[in-house]
Amino acid sequence: MTVVVTGGAGFIGGALVRRLLDMGCRVAAIDDLSGGKAASLPHHPQLTLHRLCIGADSAPQVQAIIQTADLVYHLASPIGVNLAHSARFDVVESILGSGTAVVAACRKYRVPLVITSSSEVYGQGLPRPIREADPVALDISPRWGYAAAKLALEHLAAGLYHEQGVPTWLVRPFNIAGPRQRPETGLVVASFTAAAAAGQPLHIHGDGSQVRSFLHVEDGVDALTTIAFNPTLTGRPVNMGSETPTSILELAEMVRRVRGLDVPILKTPLEDVFDGGFTHAQIRIPDITLLKSATGWQPKRSLEEAVRDGFEEIEAGTKPTLRAGGTRL
Ligand SMILES: NC(=O)c1ccc[n+]([C@@H]2O[C@H](COP(=O)([O-])OP(=O)(O)OC[C@H]3O[C@@H](n4cnc5c(N)ncnc54)[C@H](O)[C@@H]3O)[C@@H](O)[C@H]2O)c1
Repeated sequence: MTVVVTGGAGFIGGALVRRLLDMGCRVAAIDDLSGGKAASLPHHPQLTLHRLCIGADSAPQVQAIIQTADLVYHLASPIGVNLAHSARFDVVESILGSGTAVVAACRKYRVPLVITSSSEVYGQGLPRPIREADPVALDISPRWGYAAAKLALEHLAAGLYHEQGVPTWLVRPFNIAGPRQRPETGLVVASFTAAAAAGQPLHIHGDGSQVRSFLHVEDGVDALTTIAFNPTLTGRPVNMGSETPTSILELAEMVRRVRGLDVPILKTPLEDVFDGGFTHAQIRIPDITLLKSATGWQPKRSLEEAVRDGFEEIEAGTKPTLRAGGTRL
């Protein structure tokens, strides 16, 4: 089987590529290396890495790569709340441009498609586990540009299934964590482990009472490979995440504890984050009943394991060092 993975040199994409190779697939990874690293992928006779920025300009090359595929995973995307706040135009343009190019190629050659949307589409969240059918409420604040573009991509992909008849799966990952996640994205587990390993303070937005759940990237890859070709999950959003709630303060304390690193925890009042322009989401936990009941999948690894694996990778010297406030676009 030949599988295309866009964003294949990234954090989740790289783990997915390695798993697909282990499963005996031939893999074509497409990545512009704006965030991902070619060196994070193995040298493997069944793997080809195409260095390409997916968008309107590269649509013919994208079509040529997808033409002969049996399945496409579209993961390429700018990522991170920092970027959503600081580069809304580029983020929205990139998600819509790359998504449109990939969906058009899958439509033309009738290739099944899995896309990664995001839990960001749930906006400020709910005080209980969020179901796929819960209403999506996004306003025009900069943070929700990423979410709105992901939602538009979901609609495009849903139309690809319901109107064009191409099998399509719309995955909404919640926070994913583990080795090879880039701290410069601002994603909290990677930022905390990189900072702690460098002896730097852990920066928390607000008082740290905000609650998230974190899925180990290998559990995420289990889910992504299980979802594809499941006929009961086509054409509708599916939550992918952990149900175990953790406050950001608890996470910071866990990161210090697992390696005995006594770095300070610094709290910035919410009104001072992004010069007062920060949009806060207090609780975001998924209801994953749909994915579990349709596939039998469930998370097997703990957050502490993801933190340990992240530290191990830093200690092995394979991880880039922390760059304060770095962006990728
Ligand atoms: N990591 C999470 O917690 C999380 C949560 C929700 C959703 N997601 C989604 O999962 C997917 C993968 O996220 P990740 O954490 O691996 O991010 P990542 O930044 O590590 O990987 C994304 C990859 O896409 C590449 N890329 C970006 N734009 C591109 C373009 N136009 N053409 C070609 N390559 C391009 C980057 O170079 C990078 O390697 C994304 O779609 C993201 O929105 C991730």
